[in-house]
Amino acid sequence: MRIIRGRVFYRGRLEPLSLGIDEDGRIAAIKKVLRGEEEVDHGEAVILPGCVDLHVHMRDPGLTDKEDFTSGTRSAAIGGVTTVADMPNTRPAVTRPRILEDKISLLRGRACVDYVLYAAPQEARAVASLADAAAFKIYLAESTGGLQVEPGAVPDIVDAAGREKKLVVVHAEDPSMLAREPGRDLRGHSTARPKEAEQKAISSLARVSASARVHVAHATCLEALDAAPRGVTTEVTPHHLFLDWTRPLGAQGKVNPPLRSREDREALWEAFRAGRGDIVASDHAPHTLEEKDGPFEEAPAGVPGVGSSFPLLMRRMRAGDIELQRLVSAMATRPAELLGIRKGSIEVGSDADLLAVDPRRIERITAKRLRAKCDWTPFEGMEGCFPLAVYLRGEPIVEEGEPVADGRGRLLPVSA
Ligand code: NCD
Ligand code: ZN
Ligand code: ZN
Repeated sequence: MRIIRGRVFYRGRLEPLSLGIDEDGRIAAIKKVLRGEEEVDHGEAVILPGCVDLHVHMRDPGLTDKEDFTSGTRSAAIGGVTTVADMPNTRPAVTRPRILEDKISLLRGRACVDYVLYAAPQEARAVASLADAAAFKIYLAESTGGLQVEPGAVPDIVDAAGREKKLVVVHAEDPSMLAREPGRDLRGHSTARPKEAEQKAISSLARVSASARVHVAHATCLEALDAAPRGVTTEVTPHHLFLDWTRPLGAQGKVNPPLRSREDREALWEAFRAGRGDIVASDHAPHTLEEKDGPFEEAPAGVPGVGSSFPLLMRRMRAGDIELQRLVSAMATRPAELLGIRKGSIEVGSDADLLAVDPRRIERITAKRLRAKCDWTPFEGMEGCFPLAVYLRGEPIVEEGEPVADGRGRLLPVSA
């Protein structure tokens, strides 16, 4: 048995413990002292469950000048993310079973971390045949990829998803409230796609929230969280928690829904640290520098972030701004629960997806450190705590902060 030791986050607190990992990569024993053929002692470092990122765009297939499945999941591993859920706005978009099956075969053997895939049914009758998708995505407004669903079709799609027991993740902006003219800078982008459009779209989910498990992607502000009907879960992103339109980012800060004001950002952070919002997801949406360097109005929306989410949050934990329990819940345990996968917590029987991090080891976040293909990050220069080691089903995928194994990631079975 392989033994991993450290200060383990177990049952809500940190304790010096040994984890015994069996041949299937599951945690088989948790004890004060365990002996095995292979022992790794992380000493004072903190051992946490690997993060589960419910919202990434790895751009594969079709858009691999921005990212590909290997580069994107390698960046995930560096940042302590051991499972990603990949969005369907790849090319061709994952709207039909044939396209989903092709995507599944194309990605096989190329991921550094485990993964599941989304599909984006455009009509209710497509839903049942997309059984291999872990969850469904519905775009209520246009965003990158042009997958906006006919508003009239939404209730039937959600109903059908509910019958399949699948999570429905919604990009919630009301298209009728978006300005016709695009904004010319970050502030203008926020005005053109206002908070009210988010609020309206989110509250409208009350009409469908009884039919399936509905989840709101990338809530940008407190008002968006407040608008969520009872039973609808919500997600916040590191860019809305840590960036706002006052930053001199130009189109590198252009994202849908937009970065808001500093006051909005502060209110979102206060709410989040106090327990509002179910999960953190990165909405890792890389575009090339070339695309971002053109005129602001024409630049595509989306920012990379899968590798920087955990380091940013862990840095705030070290600063005493957020409880470790809250961080682990939002970044690992809750997203795994929403997807219904056996990940996201350290327990006997769980997959041994683990990270070891020394909270005292603070680094500057740089694009080079993150290794995403697009080679830029809106968090450049900010402080982060990166994991020293990351394990996927008990095997090291990151050692001394560097990726050491590509291709070990698997498509996770979908439990309906
Ligand atoms: C995403 C992308 O580029 O794929 N862009 C974004 O601004 N968030 C699409 C999306 O999630 O809306
Ligand atoms: Zn979106
Ligand atoms: Zn997205």
